[in-house]
Amino acid sequence: MTRTLITGGLVITAAEEVHADVLIEGGRIAALAAPGSQRWSADRVIDATDTYVIPGGVDAHTHMELPFGGTFASDTFETGTRAAAWGGTTTIVDFAVQSVGRSLTEGFDTWMEKANGRCAIDYGFHMIVSDVNGATLREMDALVAQGVTSFKLFTAYPGVFYSDDGQILRAMQQASGNGGLIMAHAENGLAIDVLVQQALARGERDPRHHGEVRKVLLEAEATHRVIQLARVAGAPLYVVHVSADEALAEIVTARDKGLPVFGETCPQYLFLSTDNLAEPDFEGAKYVCSTPLRPREHQAALWRGLRTDDLQVVSTDHCPFCFSGQKELGRGDFSKIPNGLPGVENRMDLLHQGVVDGHITRRRWIEIACAAPARMFGLYGRKGTIAPGADADVVIYDPAAEQTLSASTHHMNVDYNAYEGKRVRGKVRTVLSRGEVIIDNGAYTGHAGHGAFLPRGVTQYLG
Ligand code: URP
Ligand code: ZN
Ligand code: ZN
Repeated sequence: MTRTLITGGLVITAAEEVHADVLIEGGRIAALAAPGSQRWSADRVIDATDTYVIPGGVDAHTHMELPFGGTFASDTFETGTRAAAWGGTTTIVDFAVQSVGRSLTEGFDTWMEKANGRCAIDYGFHMIVSDVNGATLREMDALVAQGVTSFKLFTAYPGVFYSDDGQILRAMQQASGNGGLIMAHAENGLAIDVLVQQALARGERDPRHHGEVRKVLLEAEATHRVIQLARVAGAPLYVVHVSADEALAEIVTARDKGLPVFGETCPQYLFLSTDNLAEPDFEGAKYVCSTPLRPREHQAALWRGLRTDDLQVVSTDHCPFCFSGQKELGRGDFSKIPNGLPGVENRMDLLHQGVVDGHITRRRWIEIACAAPARMFGLYGRKGTIAPGADADVVIYDPAAEQTLSASTHHMNVDYNAYEGKRVRGKVRTVLSRGEVIIDNGAYTGHAGHGAFLPRGVTQYLG
């Protein structure tokens, strides 16, 4: 059994920070001990002096190869998971998609096939439910048994992923019986479509109008609605990509009542704003995603929500489309710009910058980026921490290194970086996935197919 020893680093988990040596055996964490206190022999020794030793990141919201807006997200499972590894993320939970009129099983099988043998890091799946009916409700139970324990329902995108309130309620009732977690994309899609048509009729065609029609109030209204539906169903609820202070306020109100309502935000809502959507010469299209970017005043509320634990998770909603040939599909009509931003490679660094900027502590960084997403989606213990028995998904992170985020240096398969030119402090040095070194001091040493499918348990947030 291969033994790897990581010496002299500051081990940071969500629970504690401690200088320790870490022994890895056969892909798992075997033991931690005070620096130099044990005479462990090892096949490989990694000197982590002056660096952090942190759990590999868990990005619980990615869309590799997602079909959307007449095209496909530009990262495949191969390129996207490799980029994730470069950025210190060792687990993703992506979304398999049920097409309208087809079964959940068919969607799951299709996405398993896309990922199988291609991933650099471990991966699981949520299921996007686009067609709630008696058969698909029964299939939800079968999927939970296969380790797909969370289901995304949309109040947005009529005609694509949209479900009406009755369908969402039925899915929530099913989840309350089978242990599944309903994830909601909360925007009032029907009202938004009216505003889109009215904007286009007025000749408002630039990317910035995408943000203007997808109003804060329509995110807050839908957030309120899905929370009430979850209460009626007696089901827990996870609201994805929360972008606006009024939407967060709905979650806070629910949580203050003691309800099992959880929230996720994404780096783009913490670092970008409608200023980016308004960039001239169609450049704003690079920042078209839904929920949309908001005026920068919303950022303080989101950071506060992360500090107070009203928001538990930061995921990327990584859904890249190249500017050239993909975002350009919406030149002259913002509603045809494929929705989504790249970011799987940048999340750990951006959140570390949140530590540097004083928004969150180091332990909270690890909590929202590693431990909480693992616990939320039934992976904790194996993923999201550094403790005996856990998978040896470990990142050696240099907190003093400086870097500039850029498409010229990133590894995502997309022709722009949403944070182009941003200087951040902190950089991944070495990444291990189940004990195997996959990033080694600036070199990729992993391989497609190393990543394994993770059947997940039910959320560990309720126990
Ligand atoms: O703009 C986004 N978020 N695209 C991906 C699909 C979704 O709604 O998460
Ligand atoms: Zn969504
Ligand atoms: Zn998404």
